[in-house]
Amino acid sequence: MIIAIDGPAASGKSTTAKKVAEMLNFIYVDTGSMYRAVTLAVLNAGMDPNVESDVKGILPNLAISVEVSEGGSKTLLDGNDVSEETRRTGVTNHVSAVSAMPSVREEMVAMQRRITVGKDAVVEGRDIGTVVFPKADFKFYFTASHTARAERRRLDLKKLGIEHSTEEIIEDLKRRDDIDSGRIHSPLTRADDAITVDTTNLTFDEQVAFIVNRVRNS
Ligand code: DC
Repeated sequence: MIIAIDGPAASGKSTTAKKVAEMLNFIYVDTGSMYRAVTLAVLNAGMDPNVESDVKGILPNLAISVEVSEGGSKTLLDGNDVSEETRRTGVTNHVSAVSAMPSVREEMVAMQRRITVGKDAVVEGRDIGTVVFPKADFKFYFTASHTARAERRRLDLKKLGIEHSTEEIIEDLKRRDDIDSGRIHSPLTRADDAITVDTTNLTFDEQVAFIVNRVRNS
């Protein structure tokens, strides 16, 4: 069974998806971290993350893998766990450009389908219900106000020791939303058959319960 959860950055998808996977004993796949790992590799190689021909050149040699388990997901680059490093701002600033490249998407989508073959999985991203698994058993689309999203992101960054104002984060979220929703290939968009979950005024427990109840009562 595949449960697809899509939505913009900081809409509450990741934490919710992880907990839902844990409760249902499904594997959890964080596809954003895969695009982040490609971006980190591009930056580490000293390449321009805006030039597709450069990025395409390193794709065949990229050693990206994902270790999935119930409720957990680790992204490895050359055997090292880069899950935390890829959440830092250097990567975040360039990941929308890298993930808009068709060659990158093709590789990552193939990997996402491979990882989940024969498994029950909660898969979280931007194009899971529309492109990666258009026949997913359940599709949820998360939204939230800019202020609620920025406040969540601010607290996440603070845990990593990075301080930004809510206003700065709102600007950054808007910039990334524009790129993610406006790109030609697999833009962020709600699948017609997805259930919208507006998390602006929901607690974490309510978000989790909403999905788990839908799945269990179906
Ligand atoms: O969810 P996140 O913030 O970690 O995602 C990082 C970037 O990756 C985001 O800007 C859009 C991109 N992404 C994507 O294009 N498709 C996905 N399935 C997941 C993420």
